[in-house]
Amino acid sequence: MVSRDSNLKDTELVEKGRVSFDWARSNMPAFALAERHLRSEIKKFGRNPLRGKKIAASLHVSKETSVLIAALVGLGAEITLVAANPLSSQPEMIAYLSSIGVEVNAKRGETEQEYKKAINSAARKEPDLIIDDGAELHVAYSSTGSKSCIGGTDETTSGTDRLRVLAERGRLRYPVFAVNEAQTKHIFDNRYGTGQSTMDGLLRATSLLIAGKVVVVAGYGWVGSGVALRARGLGARVIVTEVNPVRALEAHLNGFEVQTMNKAAELGDIFLTCTGQTDVIRREHFLRMRGGAIVGNAGHFNREIDVKGLFRLGDKVEQVREGLTRVSVNGKSIFLLTQGRVVNLASAEGHPPEVMQFSFSNQLLCLYRLAAGKERGKGVLQVPKEIDDLVASLSLKAFHFRIDSLSSRQTKYAQTFTR
Ligand SMILES: NC(=O)c1ccc[n+]([C@@H]2O[C@H](COP(=O)([O-])OP(=O)(O)OC[C@H]3O[C@@H](n4cnc5c(N)ncnc54)[C@H](O)[C@@H]3O)[C@@H](O)[C@H]2O)c1
Repeated sequence: MVSRDSNLKDTELVEKGRVSFDWARSNMPAFALAERHLRSEIKKFGRNPLRGKKIAASLHVSKETSVLIAALVGLGAEITLVAANPLSSQPEMIAYLSSIGVEVNAKRGETEQEYKKAINSAARKEPDLIIDDGAELHVAYSSTGSKSCIGGTDETTSGTDRLRVLAERGRLRYPVFAVNEAQTKHIFDNRYGTGQSTMDGLLRATSLLIAGKVVVVAGYGWVGSGVALRARGLGARVIVTEVNPVRALEAHLNGFEVQTMNKAAELGDIFLTCTGQTDVIRREHFLRMRGGAIVGNAGHFNREIDVKGLFRLGDKVEQVREGLTRVSVNGKSIFLLTQGRVVNLASAEGHPPEVMQFSFSNQLLCLYRLAAGKERGKGVLQVPKEIDDLVASLSLKAFHFRIDSLSSRQTKYAQTFTR
């Protein structure tokens, strides 16, 4: 058991983590059903392919992640866990996971160097399987020259995008399921999960009123549309910026004002980037912003806001509260949330468990499929439809509601479209 968290021996911290874990697990009934389904598959199969598998995982060390990791431990896997962001690890979850035999190499508030070092060391452990959120671990593993890995997964949009580039360069030598692209992942996790938890992070960091403010959302994809929806729900006037004409049109018809960032910079009180791109808010925008503007990021990497550029412009920097930095620019104040890192994880606790159960059910079922050797080849793969559909139907069951099914007459009609 290895951990760089000095509080590890604190039994109270372990207990706090256990209670948090129980709370998350009790709110992830669909995940419990997916786990039960898997156990019955293993029984039918007569062998547990996950037993003894070495898994390296780079995930946000949260209570929900602990539910996935504990399930894998229960299935006999050996796990090394590192953070997927230097600011997103919860100390009590590190303590709890370490107490159940997971090798956790993370701490809250890592430096960039510590974070990279932990990822590189996990990559060198010759894992059989890799679970990732942002592709940092896959990229690090690809440089080791090791051939141990038989497959992996990635949780997020930015990770899948990077993996495709890795595959094009011939450096992805095993199959990776793009969990983000399962319908039961991005429709719910990216939109409703990030929508709610970004507002949660914004509120915890600022403790300000949202109603009546102008919130500028950069990017109207799955994440941005959820953030815009929830900001409007709290009473904000929302402006959307986009580079994709179809998405811009969608935002317009959903009742949002669409502007360029240059124009929106003059109008906004709060700016949230949700693009997966780099330098979306930069020097010329900071210069146009009104005094008191708050700037934060809900995309995966801390590249969306030119944080270095902001500090170069500023003549005075002050930490106002945890997760809120005031930068004085030409006599006006610009407030930066969580150093430009993903605000819903750095200032809040990430997505609610009810959402993460969808994402992690996909993860669990995909990992089993890889461990069982059902996927050969290499490159980025779609989550099989049968897994996506299974997660949806188990989730309906967990939420205790039923839907109609086609009658035989309707099935026949759908096949022929004749009376
Ligand atoms: N915070 C979280 O918990 C969380 C959860 C899921 C995904 N993510 C991350 O959020 C980011 C967005 O994910 P998504 O699923 O919404 O992706 P997406 O591809 O659906 O949406 C991104 C949108 O941003 C737009 N865009 C790109 N560059 C832009 C620019 N310069 N200005 C304005 N708009 C621009 C694109 O046209 C697209 O519509 C990714 O980095 C993803 O990994 C974060």
